Amino acid sequence: MCGIFGIIFAERPRRPLGEILRRGLERLEYRGYDSAGVAVVDRGLVVKKDAGKVAEVAQRYGFDSLQGVVGLAHTRWATHGKPDQVNAHPHVDCRGVIAVVHNGIIENYAELKEELMKRGHVFRSETDTEVIAHLVEEYKKQGLDTFSAFKKALSRVRGAYAIALIDAENPRAIYFARNLSPLIIGVGEGFNIVASDIPTVLDHTKRVIAVRDGEYGYITAGEVYIEADGVPQDVAARIEEIPWSAEMATKGGYPHFMLKEIYEQPESLASTAAGLEPAQLEAVANALLAARNVYIVGAGTSYHAGLTLAFILPRLRITPIPVISSEYAIYEDLYDKDDLAIAISQSGETIDTIKAVKAMRERGVKVVAVTNVVGSTLSRESDVVLYTRAGPEMGVAATKTFTTQVLTLAAVYLTALRALGHDVAEHQRELKAVPDLARKTIEKTAGTAKELARRLRQRLSAYYLGRGAALPVAMEGALKLKEVAYLHAEAYPAGESKHGPIALVEEGFPVIFVFSDPNTGEKTLSNVAEMKARGALTIGTVPARSDYAKKLDVAIEVPQTSELFAPILHVIPLQMLAYFTAVERGYDPDKPRNLAKTVTVE
Ligand code: G6P
Repeated sequence: MCGIFGIIFAERPRRPLGEILRRGLERLEYRGYDSAGVAVVDRGLVVKKDAGKVAEVAQRYGFDSLQGVVGLAHTRWATHGKPDQVNAHPHVDCRGVIAVVHNGIIENYAELKEELMKRGHVFRSETDTEVIAHLVEEYKKQGLDTFSAFKKALSRVRGAYAIALIDAENPRAIYFARNLSPLIIGVGEGFNIVASDIPTVLDHTKRVIAVRDGEYGYITAGEVYIEADGVPQDVAARIEEIPWSAEMATKGGYPHFMLKEIYEQPESLASTAAGLEPAQLEAVANALLAARNVYIVGAGTSYHAGLTLAFILPRLRITPIPVISSEYAIYEDLYDKDDLAIAISQSGETIDTIKAVKAMRERGVKVVAVTNVVGSTLSRESDVVLYTRAGPEMGVAATKTFTTQVLTLAAVYLTALRALGHDVAEHQRELKAVPDLARKTIEKTAGTAKELARRLRQRLSAYYLGRGAALPVAMEGALKLKEVAYLHAEAYPAGESKHGPIALVEEGFPVIFVFSDPNTGEKTLSNVAEMKARGALTIGTVPARSDYAKKLDVAIEVPQTSELFAPILHVIPLQMLAYFTAVERGYDPDKPRNLAKTVTVE
């Protein structure tokens, strides 16, 4: 979605303010890159913005030479209005003194716009955001100070928002508000920041406050003031130290974040494994075994991670109900206080997942969150939080967060297995070995993935097939290829592929089989034979030293482990295949078109 960043200093910073804003935007760009813009106060309000990626717009408008002590910045993923210069943020009032940036959607903007136009306000853009600037202008005209006018404006808007606003006539503060869209405050010495997410402030500070739904306030260079329903909040008690370094949010020598994050997986898996708390896992496992219904909720890659658990839970005689977050209403009549939901979200901010969780909790469902972001909305909306410790993920396509989610869910499964009286010592050893096996997988399979990418680059379409516990891995592989290489890729249960998909197969059609589930490998081989007979190029991720390799045109061997952890290893070459295919086709895998890292609109 959109990303927002605002910073205010006590005195002129050593580097020009515009350069600081541009760097903030570069950090945020993965949230949306249809347009970029900044506003600074330098004797008056100065706004520079346009359609395009941050680097292009910043260069064209000389962001780096803008001066001042207070500024806002924005990257946009278009919802209302096409991505062009007028619709780019910041938006300003009629007189050009108030600037606002916004992530989210103001649902009642059309009626507010009409009302304001009747009062003589002139609108420049088609966006919902612009009404905020005009509302504040209107209430200031009626005699209110900026903060009171801002609060009154908030009382008029409905919808999801993270907002930051500056007023050149009162430039000692940045005003902010949050409802549903993420917003954090970076607390500094001689400066303060508002931003959409944590990586954006890491260059400046590691001290962060997560703004909560319904809260609003302002930052000055030396103060953070937050209010909810007119009541001032205790800010000092909410400052958290974030264990991520600024270095973790840079490319560190890799051409793209996506590749860096694929290569970081051994480390992320190790720190996630080390962070698993036995007492917490036991509490979750017991709740899982005691629950009437178990819902496994997530969107995109997080949903696929959830499926890796959903497909093995029946072995514990648990019937999970996988729920795609945006479709939570299908099961609404079932939600009950005896139920448990495991909600998975890297960002902890995906609106579909948050809404699903809220609907479930309203009916008493107990919620376990699996998230990567400390203090995220999901973490606060849940009864128990299991943190993955993948570090910041900047590539839009999730990689290391998927494997750390799978590891966490496998640890929950193991704990439940033990609670049922099974010996899990062997599985525990396998869990400890996963980071090292992930490293070996990367080393061994990168070359083949790269070669294959050259063969895939000219194709239009590919199938990803798997049976049983291998299916979620196939689904994740297909999603990666679609997301970054813009190739049509479809995942199917391998056995079902003969009921339709096979009709498309002709000479050279790539079909990628996942052999991560030892219980289904033999049967999958018959589907390999069917595809081969139609001329398909058969590719497969197979356990090392198995016979499956001989049956395939191209076998990608990954180290042996049990089906619990195999999804982690088998997905790695598929991530690399998608990455290298995107690069071969000349695309930037970090910024796939039309996608955003954290989707905060329905
Ligand atoms: C977007 C991203 C995906 C991600 C999904 C869920 O679609 O582009 O990479 O898997 O959101 O995000 P979450 O933060 O909830 O895991």
